[in-house]
Amino acid sequence: MWPYPKIVAHRGGGTLAPENTLAGLRAGLAYGFRAVEFDVMLSRDGIGMVVHDPAFGRTVAGRGSVAQTDASVLSSMDAGGWFGAAFRGEPVPFYTQFIDYCQQQRIWMNVEIKPADGADTATGAWVAQVTRERYAAELAAGDPAGYPLLSSFSYAALAAARDAAPELPRGYLLDTIPDDWQRQARELGAVTIHTNHKHLNADLAARIKAAGYGLFCYTVNTPERGHELLAWGVDGFCTDRIDLIGPTFA
Ligand code: G3P
Ligand code: MG
Repeated sequence: MWPYPKIVAHRGGGTLAPENTLAGLRAGLAYGFRAVEFDVMLSRDGIGMVVHDPAFGRTVAGRGSVAQTDASVLSSMDAGGWFGAAFRGEPVPFYTQFIDYCQQQRIWMNVEIKPADGADTATGAWVAQVTRERYAAELAAGDPAGYPLLSSFSYAALAAARDAAPELPRGYLLDTIPDDWQRQARELGAVTIHTNHKHLNADLAARIKAAGYGLFCYTVNTPERGHELLAWGVDGFCTDRIDLIGPTFA
């Protein structure tokens, strides 16, 4: 149900580097993390880029939006200066750059499909197709621990990923768990449920596990809470505090 690492660095390298950058992956690796969560959104020309917010201003300097900017331009924009002068000029990465790095360093990926408004189907299908091509050998080997887990809050994006590459595992992201979660998860062929730990309780965790799903939480930043969740049967979680919660935390 969860053949993946238990502790996952959130948005690349958590709070030790600018989120969703190659510097983040390097920071995670420096702390021993070989498991990472990050967000993928399509550029104007339909290329998957690693970025969280649809609009510029918080992490990417400037005005405008990811969906209205071509990938070649995004890849030269500053996604690091907000974090610190040492990271100024750190670009918005291509998804394929993250794949390259993670394959070279043997880092497991939880790829969050993060569609801009109206791009759910296109983003889900694009991420699934590219991931399937780049992990063809691992998929043929048939060990799920060797290939990425796609996840999304977007039902439509996950449905498109399912249709484009049914063999890639899918996780359904739910901030709070609705009553009909199991019907939706079944329709999507999801194998894992990813949820906000703040809205989870022991009973709900037990029910999700009893139904046969992997259970993953975001974003857990204190060791005390991490221990509590694991005691409830949660299989894994992502953290911003990779300095406080290491990859062998248990
Ligand atoms: O994938 C879990 C988590 O990343 C979801 O929230 O907003 O950090 O992408 P967000
Ligand atoms: Mg995310």
